[in-house]
Order: sequence, then structure tokens, then C-alpha cells
Amino acid sequence: MRVEVQTCAPAELEADVLAVPLLDGEGVTGAAGELDGPLDGLIARLAQEGELRGELGSARLVHVEGRLPSRRVAVAGIGKAERLDADALRTAASAVASEVGEFAESVGWAIDESLSLTSEEQARAIVEGTLLGGYQPGRWKHNGQNAKLASLTICGDQSLAETVERAARISLWVNRARDLVNSPPNEATPERLAARAAEIASELEHVETEALGREEIIAHGMGALAAVAQGSDTEPRLVILRYEPPEAKGDLVLGLVGKAITFDTGGISIKPSLHMQDMKGDMAGGAAVIEATGAIADLGLPVRVIGVVAATENMPSGHAYRPGDILTAANGKTIEVTNTDAEGRLVLADALWYARENGATHVLDLATLTGAMEVALGDLYAGVFANEDDWRDRVVAAGEASGDHAWAFPMHPRYRRYVDSVFADLKNSSDLRQAGAVLAAEFLKEFAGEGPWAHADIAGPAFLERSRGDYLHQRGGTGYGVRLIVELATRLTA
Ligand code: BES
Ligand code: MN
Ligand code: ZN
Repeated sequence: MRVEVQTCAPAELEADVLAVPLLDGEGVTGAAGELDGPLDGLIARLAQEGELRGELGSARLVHVEGRLPSRRVAVAGIGKAERLDADALRTAASAVASEVGEFAESVGWAIDESLSLTSEEQARAIVEGTLLGGYQPGRWKHNGQNAKLASLTICGDQSLAETVERAARISLWVNRARDLVNSPPNEATPERLAARAAEIASELEHVETEALGREEIIAHGMGALAAVAQGSDTEPRLVILRYEPPEAKGDLVLGLVGKAITFDTGGISIKPSLHMQDMKGDMAGGAAVIEATGAIADLGLPVRVIGVVAATENMPSGHAYRPGDILTAANGKTIEVTNTDAEGRLVLADALWYARENGATHVLDLATLTGAMEVALGDLYAGVFANEDDWRDRVVAAGEASGDHAWAFPMHPRYRRYVDSVFADLKNSSDLRQAGAVLAAEFLKEFAGEGPWAHADIAGPAFLERSRGDYLHQRGGTGYGVRLIVELATRLTA
């Protein structure tokens, strides 16, 4: 999609569809009101009659051929003024793209200076809403892709050009992460994730990648990752991405660690079969790390990054690991396996160690780690845990500013007893049905090493079982984490 800014008044813009926002219950004001001059009050009349609505998500077309340079006006509801935020505008932009995307080639979106959001916030939200809302998950359908929409023009001030360009680039990286997450598990294998990382490294400057195979994983003493991988005939990979820009500031190395279980059957502690296909999305944390590292390099952010993605299937088989097995992780700690379906924390244990061992000073891991997190927060927010409040708050703030919603969760030494084992240093799950997401975080903390570490449990928002009804209305991968990471990296360089 071509995305650009034009300095113009909405009434002058020429596009197949000109979109304007409409608040709920405030009458026809702002950009929509401006159009009503040349339209002789048509929008106000249709709004009065209830055909045009300010209700969030409503998008209706008015045909204005001959009266404006654009043939159609899309009036997009953005809800109540007091609830207006970037998500509302993203949702409105997505609703317009869905309404007109099959027949319109170009959409122009009017920045409305009467709204409580700044022009920058509006421009960013409109671009994200259009590009993320227009994403089509049906890549494997023969008759699936029918969007014609190819150009988005933000009608505002030329000073918005950089904001718009950046938002468009980031959105593309988010959609690439969605492509990886939506890819079926027979395609998106650990090897394929390594190949994707290699592709990014070949396309972008200062990015290098390597991938460790089964033998190397064992040789490094990564007994936890190796154990999860041992049940599968598909080769595992520890995928490492390094971004080393020459202009990097200070000693900070951002360590991004991703869980990439390319298919989670649960292993010997096998999952029920209903919806098991959604466990192809159990690599969403890894996908976010790979594509966000690409985004950071693409934007040329002056921050050093090491991305570590633990990629393997979790399968039951004659050579699978068992409940009762005792593993030794790379940091030397022993783990009693009490549930083979608590595999994410095992692969992360070794990946966290690897990131620290290789110079990460500030670590963030992203993982579709627990069903408990999804029960707690649903499909909108990720829960964020950390060994330092300041680092946790910076991660949460970056998420909130980026559209990847995040919420702080507690850690406390007295939770540690949940993962005490009679036989080993720790066990990987508890049979108490309490605080499942917290105890997973307590487990990870044992492997996070020295220095700030945060863990985002993205089980809810990373993969949608059904439409969320906002600009992420598609089932499947959302690309959660890419925007959060880019925002965090941007703030670290400020
Ligand atoms: N990948 C799952 C968590 C998950 C569940 C993600 C639903 C997305 C949607 C993870 O590996 C898992 O199976 N966790 C178990 C842990 C338990 C055995 C301690 C869970 O949450 O049930
Ligand atoms: Mn599992
Ligand atoms: Zn899992």
C-alpha cells in the first residue's frame, strides 16, 4: 500500500473515498462539518436522520459525485468524545478499509483538528488502522485476496510525513509477524523461522543471524530446550539475531527473547483436541522478536539488540520427554518436569541464559506462556512481570503508547514455593489452580540472570480465537509485541 501525506483541506482532496471521523452525540463538526459547505448540509441531515452514526466502528458511504473532487465520502464513527483514543481511530480507519477496500483503489483520510488527539496521534492511528485492519489472513485460499485498496493519503499538514512513513513501516513489520504466526505448523517450522531471520539479515544492514541445531543445543548444555525438542522429528533451532548499528549509544544491549513453539500438542501431557490447531500460534513471541528486530534495523534505531528465539515443536512420541524427568538447564539448575505442557518456560529458561551469556543488559521475553494469563486478561492486554519495577514500568508504558496493551502483574518471593520441587531445584508446574501466570514468571526469574528482565505473557492478545471487534478483527495472529518492542527501543535511544 502506498501511504503519503498531502497538505490539503478535505474538500480539495481527490480520492475514490474521502474518510472523515464523526463523534457520537456531538453533531457534525470538524472535518465532516467542513465538507457540509459544498454539500449543502447533506452530512448533517443524514446524521440527523440516523443514517450516519458516530457510534464506534460504524462506517457509511455518502455518494457526492460532482460536488467534491472525491466521489464518495465515508463517515466513520469514532464513539464518544470522552472515550476517544488512538484505538478508536484505528478501529474507525479499519472499518473504512473493510467497507470500501474491495472496490476503492484510494482512500484519503482527513486529520480533524477539532479532536482531542494531536495530528500526529491521529495520523499514526489512521495508518495503523488501515494497514492492520486491511490485513488478510487467508493466504492459503485460492479465492481469498480481493482487496483493491492500494493507496492511503493523509490529508493534513506535510509535517506529518515522517510520522506517517514510520507508522506505515512498522505496520508492515507487524503484518509480517502475523504472516509467520498464521503460517501452518507444517510450513512455519523452526528451520523456517531461522530462514526468515537469515532473510532479514540479508536485506538489512548491521543485522547478523545464526541458528543452533539440536547437537549444538545439547553441546551448550541447554538441557531444558533439548528435552522439549527431543519428542519431535522436526529439527529445533535456537535462532539468534544481532543488530549492531555503528552509531549505537552507550553500553546498553537490548535482549529480546521469544518463545517459538511451532506447534504445542502438550507432549505426553497432551492437550484436548478441540481448537488444538490454534497452538500453531504458540510461536508468536518468537515471531514478534524476529520481525521487531527487523523493524528496529529498518528504522535504523541506534540501539544494540540481541534476539534469541527458542524454536521447537512440543510433541508426544516414543522419544518424548516425560513427566518425572529431571532436566539440567544451561545455568546449571535442575528442573523436575511435572507437566510436559508447561514447555514454554523450559525453552525460555535456556534462551534467557543464552541472551545474558551473549551480552544482553536489558532483557524482555515475550511468550504465549499460560492459559491462565488469557483467563485473567482476555484477548486485549498482555501481563508484564519483572525483577525490577522500573524496567517493568518502561515496558508497560511502551506497550500502552504503541497500541500493544500491557498491564503490570506482581512478583513476590513467597510465590517461589509454588515451584519448589522435592527432588530438584524447581519444578515446571504446580497442581494448585492458583496464579498460573505468576508462577510461570517466578520460574523464569530463576533463569533471567543479573540485571533488568521483564516477561510479557502474551497468550491472550497474540492469537485471536475470534474477532476482537476492533481494528484487529481477523482471527489468528495479531503481531502483538512488534509495536511494543519498537516503541521500547525508540525510548531507550531517546
Ligand atoms: N502454549 C500454552 C499456553 C497457551 C494456552 C497459550 C492457550 C495460548 C492459549 C502453554 O504451553 C501451556 O500449555 N501452558 C499450560 C501450563 C500448565 C500446564 C502449567 C497452561 O496454561 O495450561
Ligand atoms: Mn504447552
Ligand atoms: Zn506452549
